[in-house]
Amino acid sequence: MSYIELTAPCIFGVESILKKEIIKLGYEIKKVDDGRVTFIADELGVCRSNIWLRTAERVMINVGEFQATSFEELFEKTKDLPWERWIPEDGKFWVKKASSIKSKLFSPSDIQSIIKKAIVERLKNTYNVNWFKEDGDSYPLRVFIKKDKVSIGLDTSGEALHKRGYRTYTSKAPISETLAAAIIQLTPWNKDRILVDPFCGSGTIPIEASMYAMNMAPGLDREFTAETWKNIIPRKLWFNAVDEANDVIDTTSKINIAGYDKDYKVLKLARENAKNAGVDHLIHFQERDMRNISSPKKYGFIITNPPYGERLEDKDSVIQLYKDMKVAFNNLDDWSYFIITSFDDFERYFGKNADKKRKLYTGMMKANLYQYYGNKPPRKN
Ligand SMILES: C[S@@+](CC[C@H](N)C(=O)[O-])C[C@H]1O[C@@H](n2cnc3c(N)ncnc32)[C@H](O)[C@@H]1O
Repeated sequence: MSYIELTAPCIFGVESILKKEIIKLGYEIKKVDDGRVTFIADELGVCRSNIWLRTAERVMINVGEFQATSFEELFEKTKDLPWERWIPEDGKFWVKKASSIKSKLFSPSDIQSIIKKAIVERLKNTYNVNWFKEDGDSYPLRVFIKKDKVSIGLDTSGEALHKRGYRTYTSKAPISETLAAAIIQLTPWNKDRILVDPFCGSGTIPIEASMYAMNMAPGLDREFTAETWKNIIPRKLWFNAVDEANDVIDTTSKINIAGYDKDYKVLKLARENAKNAGVDHLIHFQERDMRNISSPKKYGFIITNPPYGERLEDKDSVIQLYKDMKVAFNNLDDWSYFIITSFDDFERYFGKNADKKRKLYTGMMKANLYQYYGNKPPRKN
């Protein structure tokens, strides 16, 4: 096994959760920046982090990092990197995405073509050829420039990791799987406590919670670009990582998770998605208006993302909904609520200041996770 440095980008605001997930997998954190965590792993670590990380958007091998303020510098410093360690002679390589913040170099198309040319120059010398057929496996690159510091990564994931493979159907405004997984881990919920999502839509929060409770890795049902990179990762390591993940799924635990929605059509999708994820037997989906929520049990959890009034004309009904949420949730004895919404005045209409608030970014949109803590159950002797 060799030393491989990996970077996992994530939603802004969930870096600390991703860091914990990486440490739990057994890897050492090198640094945490806004929206990215860098860590030290090896070949097996590429497989395990793709299969296991619930809150990472993708996993990239760090090929190199350097300062560059001109295209000449970008070319020369890219050419100096050991590309032959990663890209075989028949490999197909290109810069899939280049982004730049507060830097002299900012044109994505120029950055993309200069980096490609520099790699070609480097590989021509090492492989002693003038032209590459590029008819082998794909090696997509991602370039991130911040304050003139260029980071070049090989994308091992391919499709973003929030695409677990189970959500073929979505409601109008679905929460991303990675954000749902992050919120669940930001709360003190555990599988011994009841969990209800009264606005479950396509079921993302109950499904992610069930997978988390069962210790089911989120990436077991999808493919990753790096699976074909036999020059870097022996196939058997992928099989080992999958076997290991299958072995630790806890099928015995009893969990109490429910998803409600007033729209029966969307619940049909939620049930399909839960079935695809292999957790349908654990979630009780029911058509129910939030206003009728009730439970004789104490100490439950609500984790949910209610409508936030995407369209201006929805604003009044959303305000009324938040007022009604207060009344409905008051009927629940000692429950805790975790509500994510990008509606700025949520606390005003819900009528209660949150015990804690946390800013999270969903795409380009800023949202807040409003956290209300109920009493804890008494300790069992
Ligand atoms: C933002 S979406 C939730 C998306 C969900 N988290 C997902 O991943 O698909 C809000 C959901 O609230 C539901 N809804 C709106 N008003 C409701 C009410 N009064 N009671 C129950 N559900 C309601 C809508 O049908 C919609 O599915």
